[in-house]
Amino acid sequence: MDKISWKDEYSVGIKEIDAQHKKLINIMNRLIEMRNARVDSELISETLTEMTEYASKHFETEEKYMVEYDYPDYDAHKKVHKEFKKKTAFFCVDTMSHKETIPIEILTFLKDWWINHILKSDMKYKEFFREKGVV
Ligand SMILES: [Fe+2]
Repeated sequence: MDKISWKDEYSVGIKEIDAQHKKLINIMNRLIEMRNARVDSELISETLTEMTEYASKHFETEEKYMVEYDYPDYDAHKKVHKEFKKKTAFFCVDTMSHKETIPIEILTFLKDWWINHILKSDMKYKEFFREKGVV
């Protein structure tokens, strides 16, 4: 599986959120690298946990901006975050019990989810925050 390269088109125009998206891509890339080599099962568990924990922190940041500026699509966006958290919590427990490698379905889901989420759901707020003068 190819790693994810940051592209300018991923930028939502808010520095703090772009930095968090870059960090999430970095964690995803470490997981992708692990898929290609045999690694310690502890490291897989730790990195998956790191991703889910950082994802939660990141969602809180996005939601904080949305509440502060009264973003109209807040409820729907929050719901998407909640569904991701539920799904990944389930995945992580399942993967940790296998302890050998990260199932390709999980990596594919995570990689597609983040890219789609940034390019579709997050991009919807780009113009809104730009108009509010948030950078
Ligand atoms: Fe989001």
